[in-house]
Amino acid sequence: MIQIAPSILSADFANLGEEVKKVEDAGADLLHIDVMDGHFVPNLTIGPPVISHLKGRTSLPFDVHLMIENPENYIDEYIKAGAQILTVHIEASVHVHRLLSYIRSKGVIPGVALNPGTPLQNLEYILDQAGMVLIMSVNPGFGGQAFIPQMKEKIKALKNMMKSMNLAIPVEVDGGINEKNAKEIAEAGADILVAGSAIYNAPDPSQVIRHMKEK
Ligand code: DX5
Ligand code: ZN
Repeated sequence: MIQIAPSILSADFANLGEEVKKVEDAGADLLHIDVMDGHFVPNLTIGPPVISHLKGRTSLPFDVHLMIENPENYIDEYIKAGAQILTVHIEASVHVHRLLSYIRSKGVIPGVALNPGTPLQNLEYILDQAGMVLIMSVNPGFGGQAFIPQMKEKIKALKNMMKSMNLAIPVEVDGGINEKNAKEIAEAGADILVAGSAIYNAPDPSQVIRHMKEK
């Protein structure tokens, strides 16, 4: 069964507590939290204090997507803030292998994210350390962008790569996902679909989540 992770990037940040409750009631499986530093990506969002305050507002697992430079300097803070999945970009650190094993040693699921232009081959010697792989299907930084169609081939190739290595690691896909394209992305091999604008801009988020799962 596919899991849906609404991204709060498209939520009303002045009412974050209610916005989180809204997607939990609508049937979300995970809460996708986009952390941006204005360096790795040209946008700025939230950090550990806001995330830890959300803990009391929902029982959804926190899927924290770090789009920041030098993530190694902040890992402990995000774990303390409540991340259950903590994803770092392969492009953002020169010691991703060490970082993934460190996150795992803390009892948190280590995710590794790839920008659209980053080859899958870069995963080869670190894949066994990852608890999740995040395929970016837009260039990170903003919500509401269009899905890059070539990413479907990338997801399929990643699944084949895992198979040949005897690994079964969940694949999360993030960016430009909506009710219309969810089915083909799931068929390509996605296990978790992130959706920000498609869910938060909809008059009835529960309907969007239900349709994505049905399809
Ligand atoms: C983009 C973020 C995504 C974003 C997705 O940098 O990582 O999680 O919120 O938003 P939509 O679903 O609107 O493309
Ligand atoms: Zn994201």
